[in-house]
Amino acid sequence: MYRWTRHALLSCALGMAFGSPVQAQTPAKSPTPAPAKSLVQAEHGYSVGRPATKAELDAWDIDVRPDFKGLPRGSGTVDQGADIWDSTCATCHGSFGESNSFFAPLVGGTTPEDIKSGHVAGLIKGGQPSRTTFMKVDTVSTLWDYIHRAMPWDNPKSLEPDDVYAVLAYLLNLAEIVPSDFTLNNETIVQVQEKMPNRNGMKFWPGLWTVSGEPDTHNTACMSECDTSGKPASILPPHARDAHGDLAAQMRIIGPVRGVDSMTSALTGSVDDNVEKVREHARSTLVATQRADEKHDGSSKPDANGEKTMAMLTDNGCMTCHARDKKVVGPSFVDIAAKYKDQDDATGKLTAKIQKGGSGVWGAIPMPAHPTLSDDDAKAMVQWILTNTGQ
Ligand code: HEC
Ligand code: HEC
Repeated sequence: MYRWTRHALLSCALGMAFGSPVQAQTPAKSPTPAPAKSLVQAEHGYSVGRPATKAELDAWDIDVRPDFKGLPRGSGTVDQGADIWDSTCATCHGSFGESNSFFAPLVGGTTPEDIKSGHVAGLIKGGQPSRTTFMKVDTVSTLWDYIHRAMPWDNPKSLEPDDVYAVLAYLLNLAEIVPSDFTLNNETIVQVQEKMPNRNGMKFWPGLWTVSGEPDTHNTACMSECDTSGKPASILPPHARDAHGDLAAQMRIIGPVRGVDSMTSALTGSVDDNVEKVREHARSTLVATQRADEKHDGSSKPDANGEKTMAMLTDNGCMTCHARDKKVVGPSFVDIAAKYKDQDDATGKLTAKIQKGGSGVWGAIPMPAHPTLSDDDAKAMVQWILTNTGQ
């Protein structure tokens, strides 16, 4: 039995790596037709892998280049874009792309002269409180590509090409590059490139941009008695440490990367000295979630679900705007729990609010809708928020 199993496993493993020897001897009797040779097989003779399907390639191959290669057909007007902007983008970037205090402004700082010359004078003269996207970007294709690929931040790749054309038309209108009756499509976008305020503003240092010819640095690899004093470090400046709440509590609890408690001042001492402290804090964030679950289902058995809910809050982008005990864009979970602690219908009400979005309870900034969140997931999050905090 042992020998049989071993033999079977071995030939199976060999078959996977080099093609089944049995099949090779009796190809005509093979009960199922042999699958088409994959590219990998054809080129290298390995019997592993298969060519990616067209759908897989299309999902991955979405880059839009400065010469507009890769740009899908479609179109959208400034007016259509205004609607999408208000419902999907304004929460984070402000009604006019000026942004609230958390995100860098997209629009502003460019003049009609810049649009004529293709150089943003404000970049050289200074005097702008901050550099906006339209001051820096030189190609309109980059904006199309970026919005399509990465925005809205909490739900990337949810916009159809027509939506991207429309919302970009709206941004271009805010930046006074196109008129308010403009329709942006895969043809008119070429004219827009000719009006991008910083289209001529990029410098191409040969040493950085070309890979032919002689290198412009001359480094010699050190092979013995090398200086080892260099200390690579990743540091958050003190004023920005708590800008996004407790980073450790937003990390996965397993694996080598745990993260420090960014709500307290930086740890001093060596990495080795701090390892235990960081681990302990990471565990404490987990214990809090477990306690919440115990309380919630009345049992005392530790439940891994707390970690799952925390991961769900992180995966769904909630922790980009919320933290446990500090206001970020939205109210802290502790404050939410305190506000609703005596309300019987709180769970149902807040579940619906998360799914539908809304504003006015905590201030003017709206929470975006989360339409793809299931009832069960949204409810689990609310129960976690209402019970875990305050401990
Ligand atoms: C939940 C907050 C949020 C929402 C909603 C959102 N964004 Fe963003 N956006 C960001 C953040 C954060 C960045 C910077 C990301 C980075 O640098 O990695 C950004 C960056 C951008 C940039 C590039 C800015 C630059 O100069 O690099 C553009 C353009 C943009 N967003 C457009 C949009 C559009 C259009 C929408 C709506 C369809 C949208 N955003 C919705 C948070 C958001
Ligand atoms: C783009 C930022 C943003 C994101 C992402 C976000 N929220 Fe909010 N959240 C807010 C803001 C702002 C408020 C306050 C809204 C108000 O004043 O009515 C809020 C309010 C809340 C409230 C209290 C609602 C009330 O009526 O009192 C809960 C609960 C909540 N969020 C949970 C979540 C959950 C869970 C997620 C993830 C699925 C999430 N939020 C994602 C910004 C955000």
